[in-house]
Amino acid sequence: MRIVSGIQPTGNLHLGNYLGAIRNWVRMQDEVAAQGGQSLYFLADLHAISQPHVPSELRENTLEMTAALVACGIDPDKSVLFNQAQVPMHAELQWLLSGTARMGWLNRMTQWKDKAGKNREGQSVALFTYPVLQAADVLLYQATHVPVGEDQKQHLELARDIAQKFNNDFGAEDAPVFTLPEPIIPPEAARIMSLRDGSAKMSKSDPSDMSRINLTDDADTIMAKIKKAKTDPEALPSDKAGLKGRAEAANLVGIYAAMAGISQDAVLAEFGGHGFGKFKPALGELLVSSLAPINARFVELRQDREALDAVLAKGALKARELAGPTLASVYAALGLVR
Ligand code: TYM
Repeated sequence: MRIVSGIQPTGNLHLGNYLGAIRNWVRMQDEVAAQGGQSLYFLADLHAISQPHVPSELRENTLEMTAALVACGIDPDKSVLFNQAQVPMHAELQWLLSGTARMGWLNRMTQWKDKAGKNREGQSVALFTYPVLQAADVLLYQATHVPVGEDQKQHLELARDIAQKFNNDFGAEDAPVFTLPEPIIPPEAARIMSLRDGSAKMSKSDPSDMSRINLTDDADTIMAKIKKAKTDPEALPSDKAGLKGRAEAANLVGIYAAMAGISQDAVLAEFGGHGFGKFKPALGELLVSSLAPINARFVELRQDREALDAVLAKGALKARELAGPTLASVYAALGLVR
């Protein structure tokens, strides 16, 4: 098994990232190590320049996100933890795959459509070709599994399409150049929604900080955000089926279940028939007690810039070593003289 996944170092790590992806990264790093496999997790800083950004903030956010991942349990001695910019092979492979990726495939990406909106002509080329870089990120390491939230599923399918076409066009039948990666999406937390709008995903780019729980929020902030979270006037139902058509209630129950590691029906067995006046404080306290140790570690790790730089440098060295053979075979398959 070879696990690969990434996160953009823009803004804070939020509860959607944590429950949708990072918690699985931590779980899988141990499973994979026990099987003698390898996990690689990276800060997608090259992806972050696809939209307007402030260079000095990107640098700080990269270190901050590194501290947050280690605080969540990513162990740099067990996993390869690095940032893309220190492993130029990601950008190199992206170009080599650009001859295989089709315009029509990229045009269908919902994230491109959502982010570009009506102003496609004014977007950077990088925003359009972003999924090819994402394909390069995983194919470079022959990833077998990619733990992500549901919003990344389409990008992973594209990576498989690119790999398949490249193998068909340039690989030998008995020796494909790329492994086809499988997405791993946690069913209980595939899509954590905004606290202000049950139809929008929780996101770093939402202008309202009240829409998300950041892993760096203190206890008072978490309690205040949950208290103000949008709900409806009904009491909670006694089973999951009763949450149909109640997006905000379903989201809060989903967050409770994912955080406590129990089913939504188990949550409703306890809180069904009660209003949000009882449920919200319980959810707030669960979040505070679960996130407090992460928060404390984060604050400590964040202060030591040198240690964070050293973690990334060590990870990048290992990543470059692991990427070398695949990149060499891609050049050879394409007939490029190196
Ligand atoms: P990013 O930085 O937006 O998010 C990082 C991870 O968090 C998951 N996630 C969520 N899961 C559930 N509910 C939510 N509300 C939620 N919001 C975010 C995302 O699905 C993701 O797993 N393009 C990627 C980064 C990337 C990548 C890759 C991922 C670059 N290269 C290669 C995997 C493999 C992104 O912008 O994720």
